[in-house]
Order: sequence, then C-alpha cells, then structure tokens
Amino acid sequence: MRYKETEIVQVNAIHPETALIEQAAALLRAGEVVVFPTETVYGLGADALQTGAVECIFAAKERPYSDPLIAHIADENDLETLVASVPAEARCLAQAFWPGPLTLILPASPRVPKLITAGLSTVAVRMPRHPVALALIRAVGSPVAAPSANRFMHVSPTTAQHALADLNGRVPLILDGGPCEVGVESTILDLCSEVPRILRPGGVSLEALRTVLPGVQPTVRRNVTGGDAQHDEEAQKAPGQLLIHYAPTVPSFLFEDSPDAMRSAMLREVKRRRERGEQVGVLVADEDVAAFQNSGAHIYTLGSAPEQVATRLFAGLRTLEESGVQVILCRSFEAQGLGLAVRDRLLKAAGGKVFSPNEQQR
Ligand code: TXA
Ligand code: MG
Repeated sequence: MRYKETEIVQVNAIHPETALIEQAAALLRAGEVVVFPTETVYGLGADALQTGAVECIFAAKERPYSDPLIAHIADENDLETLVASVPAEARCLAQAFWPGPLTLILPASPRVPKLITAGLSTVAVRMPRHPVALALIRAVGSPVAAPSANRFMHVSPTTAQHALADLNGRVPLILDGGPCEVGVESTILDLCSEVPRILRPGGVSLEALRTVLPGVQPTVRRNVTGGDAQHDEEAQKAPGQLLIHYAPTVPSFLFEDSPDAMRSAMLREVKRRRERGEQVGVLVADEDVAAFQNSGAHIYTLGSAPEQVATRLFAGLRTLEESGVQVILCRSFEAQGLGLAVRDRLLKAAGGKVFSPNEQQR
C-alpha cells in the first residue's frame, strides 16, 4: 500500500507517551503496519495473528514470502498463543535473557499464520526490552510480527531516519525513539534442532548463552568464496540468513589480519583505487583514523569497544553509501562477545569477500 505521507513522531524512549502508543496500536489493530524502535534495530510491525496485516510487511519491504518473520511478545504467557509446546530450556533462557535481544526458534502452534513461519513447523519468538516496543505490543493485545524496518537486502535501520529512507510512503507511521541501544539484531537460537544452535549471532553473546545452556553451538558457516550463499548450510536452515542479506548498495570488502597488517593493506587498496579515480569509503576503528587522514578516503570510525562498534556499524555503512563512494573497505574486529555479531554483519555486508593481506583473496 502507498501512503501520501509517512508520519514520523518522536516518542519518549523510557516513558513512552500513552497517546502515541495508542495511535500506533490502533493502526496495528486495524491491520496496518507501523515502524517502532527495539533495543536492537527498528522493526516494521504488524499484528502477527492477522494474515492480511502480515502480508503488508512483505509488500512494504519487498521481501519474499520464503523468509519467515519473528513474532514479538511482551509477556511470557503469550508464548502459549504461538508455540505448540515450550521446552524447559526455553523457560530457562527466557528467564535469563528476556526481555532482551534473543530470538528462540520453537515448535509453532497451528494458530500462527503460515506467512510468519514461511510454512516451516517452527516459529521465531522474541520479547524485546525497549519500553516503546513492550508498550506497543501490550496495547495491541496480540503478538507483533516484525522484521527489521529496511527494504529487503538492505542494511538494518538503527535510527528512525534510516527506516524513513527505506520505507517512506510505504508505512503510515514511524515511532522515533532515538538511536538503538544494541545496534545489531537479536541472536537467533534454534531450540528445534538436535543440539541448540545459533542461526544468527546477535545481541546476546554465545558466551552468555552458554552460562545458561552450556551445549549451545555456534553458527555453522563453511568458508565462503565470492558471496555465493546458495550452498551455505545455515542459509538453508534460516532462509533469511543469506550472506548478502545485509548488503549495502555499494560493493564492500572485509580485511582480516593483525591491526597493523590490516591497516597497511587497506591503505594500499585505497591508494590503488584513488589512482584510478575512485571514491573510496573506509570503516575503521578510532586507532586507525590518523593513518587514513591524508589518504583521500571517506573515513567512518566505528569506535573501539565491541558494544560501540555494534551501535555504529549499520549507520557507518549507510553513511558511506550515501557519501557516493564506489567501494567500502572494512577492517575486522575481534570475534568475541558482541564482536561475533559484528564480524557476521561485516562478512554479510561484504558478501563473503574477505582480504587477508598475507594470502590472496579467499
Ligand atoms: O533484532 C531483531 O531480531 C529484529 C528486531 C526488529 O526484533 N528483527 C529482525 O527480523 O532482525 P528479520 O526479519 O530482519 O530477521 C529475522 C530472521 C529472518 O531472516 C529469518 O531467517 C529468521 O529470522 N527466522 C524467522 N523465523 C525463523 C524460523 N522459524 N526458523 C529459522 N529462522 C527463522
Ligand atoms: Mg532483517
């Protein structure tokens, strides 16, 4: 559906104004879509139990029906609406991490519209901790299906302006609660496989999950060449986890090595491309900025600590993309804690194109 105008309203992120939440909830109850903030990224919500409303999500994002959605709840009791049976591990994990950036894959109840599960026998459920998201779900009185509020295949939005850039005229209302606290999407944990396995690293780290469920296994990903995700095992399990899923519209490359070697290789590549007359963007850490200052590259620093890098990552990709560069070169970060999710998103942005300075391109 096209809207003459997308209204964007500021909402208090800690104590959301009741009238604004009611305005958004009324739209959702009426079967429309609304963009709202969560602690991870902005979501494009619809009433999860209204098939027609869920259809509007796919239309607004231009997302294929083969990619299932996460149903968001505000109360653990809402699990009964969506899930056929709740395993004991799910209770323990919910106790430890909900509300928060953890999505659980659970056996779906027959009540869940097929559009949400993409016809799978499982459903993805998460209880977000953002006060606006929680207030909205409660006011709707139904679970809220919500993918990230970007066009399909684009970078997830961490501000209301990012969501507006992708969905202007495609949604009636965006609730602007300021920048998202975590900045990368939720961790998706499959509790329906033989062993609990992370399908997408995210806001809750593998290390944290293992304190509650020691057997949790990391994401399976074979060594990738050239962004062809067709045979990626994980992509088949979670249809939306294609390697190119988070791609910016500009080609990107990930550099991996020691900080010094990475920096030198990136600088060489900037020089080579500048000599060809290209505009080059670099995503770096604070400690790299000085080295790139006179390189002629468009510089965006992600900070240093993994938490900071996570909050700046998607904004960095969008900013460089909008600056008109022909290529984005990204450095990598330690793949521990939240760093694992950061690496995953950088790898996806690069479509699997990794440069290790001491090797040829893999
Ligand atoms: O942080 C987040 O998770 C954000 C906020 C808005 O909550 N949502 C989000 O949704 O990232 P989305 O649709 O962009 O990504 C969810 C992914 C899909 O790509 C899909 O692959 C996976 O979750 N998924 C959903 N249902 C699934 C299922 N039943 N089995 C396996 N994977 C599933
Ligand atoms: Mg998404």
